Amino acid sequence: MAEFKQARPGAPMAEQFMTWVDNRFPATKLFKEHMSEYYAPKNFNVWYFFGSLAMLVLVIQIVTGIFLVMHYKPDAALAFASVEYIMRDVPWGWLVRYMHSTGASAFFIVVYLHMFRGMIYGSYRKPRELVWVFGCAIFLALMAEAFMGYLLPWGQMSYWGAQVIINLFAAIPFVGNDLSLLIRGDFVVGDATLNRFFSFHVIAVPLVLLGLVVAHIIALHEVGSNNPDGIEIKAKTDAKGVPLDGIPFHPYYTVHDIFGVAIFLIIYSAVLFFAPEGGGYFLEFNNFIPADPLKTPLHIAPVWYFTPFYSMLRAVTDDMVTVLVVLVAAAGVLGFLKGGFKGPWKFAPLVGAVALVVLLKVFDAKFWGVVVMGVAVLILFFLPWLDRSPVKSIRYRPNWHKVVYGVFVVNFVVLGYYGIQPPSTAGTIISMVGTLFYMGFFLLMPWWSRIGEFKPVPERVTFRAH
Ligand code: HEM
Repeated sequence: MAEFKQARPGAPMAEQFMTWVDNRFPATKLFKEHMSEYYAPKNFNVWYFFGSLAMLVLVIQIVTGIFLVMHYKPDAALAFASVEYIMRDVPWGWLVRYMHSTGASAFFIVVYLHMFRGMIYGSYRKPRELVWVFGCAIFLALMAEAFMGYLLPWGQMSYWGAQVIINLFAAIPFVGNDLSLLIRGDFVVGDATLNRFFSFHVIAVPLVLLGLVVAHIIALHEVGSNNPDGIEIKAKTDAKGVPLDGIPFHPYYTVHDIFGVAIFLIIYSAVLFFAPEGGGYFLEFNNFIPADPLKTPLHIAPVWYFTPFYSMLRAVTDDMVTVLVVLVAAAGVLGFLKGGFKGPWKFAPLVGAVALVVLLKVFDAKFWGVVVMGVAVLILFFLPWLDRSPVKSIRYRPNWHKVVYGVFVVNFVVLGYYGIQPPSTAGTIISMVGTLFYMGFFLLMPWWSRIGEFKPVPERVTFRAH
């Protein structure tokens, strides 16, 4: 057992109490390690608000969720009415419910911005690969959490959205039908589905999310934060080992983050009080009609944060498969001619391409749509190893790289837009091009991220006092 420390003679009560606690639990040690002696780069900018904001929204979702569960009924016959009861009869119920439903959209806005910050500053690169990988796992869990939560109000969109998405699993060869049956717990979306989604939404996934967020922060604090210059501040330290460009997280960034929280709360409250449904984007209008298994809505679309991926799913038609066949064949020939494979591996690109073309033709387009949608999310995990740029931050990359990232964002938004719209010829074509760009951005990154004229990276972070 470690030596018990003694409080200073005549120390104030609070100090004596903390000494008592510290002898039994490392409270001060943890506070120092993660707050007052965690040295963060001094050049953080607005992009660095979104990590703490994501934590704030997570807390909002958990707290409002706890209060919703007090009145919500996870029963297909009662769920819709129980939500209406919360909205009309429970004191402040409307506020709690809207905080939660608008909070879901806020969560995705904050997390998308947080991820984009990581992308432009190369925060996923060595030694922060695991910070990123945990982040991607959080993103997956968040998608599952939002999807299952949307079924709970048991409105028309809840019902039919779940029906469409669960049916996608049926497109998987051999096991698909059994898998979708397993998820649904019935042959159609019904009470069993609602009950299992409720259980996952209120306990299983939040537990996973919380665990992953803790892992995310521990991994980050192990290696230290990146910054807009993409420079490792630990490389230059003073005699005590404190980074020259580092400042204690507390009080500097606690105050900085409180400012971010204030701005966020203003915007969040404005939406909450004046447009809680977000014009039908945060809560779709069809969801104010009780679920009716006998009446399919004219147009079924997921909530906005899923639609870029949904667009990619819809883009994979038979025509798109033909385009993919041509691309795979071209890549195979290119790999054979220019890939530099030697000896027995010489024909590997051709053999691989032929195998992939056969698979593309054997399984139908719907299945490949599901694959593309899945790959679009899973590919994010591999970003640390796809990016081969000699510098981390976008600041020191060739200017045309900035254009590529700009197009990536516009493309993601356009895909999102067409994912919400009913299918149309123009929408499908644009989504096909968008899907090819999205996939090309990542799959060709090992090649394009190295090309161009990179700017010299300074020795120390750039910082203007403000
Ligand atoms: C519930 C969701 C999440 C929470 C609460 C969260 C929280 C945080 C916090 C507090 C930080 C440190 C402050 C900051 O750098 O902004 C951080 C950093 C980071 N997060 Fe997240 N995060 C979440 C999701 C994600 C996701 C989905 C990704 C990526 C797929 C991600 C990738 C990163 C990276 C790479 C860093 C290091 C940034 C740097 O040092 O420049 N995070 N996160």
